[in-house]
Amino acid sequence: MKILVTGGAGFIGSHVVDAFLAAGHDVAVVDNLTTGDARWINPRARFHEVDLRSARLAQVFEAERPEVVTHLAAQASVARSYSWTSSRPRASRVRGFGTRTTEKSVHGW
Ligand SMILES: NC(=O)c1ccc[n+]([C@@H]2O[C@H](COP(=O)([O-])OP(=O)(O)OC[C@H]3O[C@@H](n4cnc5c(N)ncnc54)[C@H](O)[C@@H]3O)[C@@H](O)[C@H]2O)c1
Repeated sequence: MKILVTGGAGFIGSHVVDAFLAAGHDVAVVDNLTTGDARWINPRARFHEVDLRSARLAQVFEAERPEVVTHLAAQASVARSYSWTSSRPRASRVRGFGTRTTEKSVHGW
């Protein structure tokens, strides 16, 4: 299957990408590398350095045409999520708007 993994350069996502590839799937990764690391991305996966909240996400879906999307891009730190100083609005945007743009891209092509 053609699978797109958001957050595929992160802790969980990079292992999920490895498992999908080991199972014989065709894998693409979308990640903006805020907390992820490009070195963790399996070289057999195609990498798109794109922020989920950007309009470029639609172009990635158009190019990849995935059958399955595994959405793991997130601001994963609980401490940051509960900080009202600066991180919470950003965390909410990634979780909310990032998830909405991902869903919109899934339905948009
Ligand atoms: N790590 C754990 O033990 C654990 C346990 C349960 C659930 N989870 C959940 O799994 C998910 C991933 O967690 P993780 O530990 O792998 O975190 P992580 O920070 O290692 O990975 C998140 C990835 O998302 C990317 N990312 C963040 N914002 C982005 C954006 N706007 N556009 C594109 N990419 C973006 C980051 O660069 C990073 O590679 C989170 O939802 C987390 O809550 C994690």
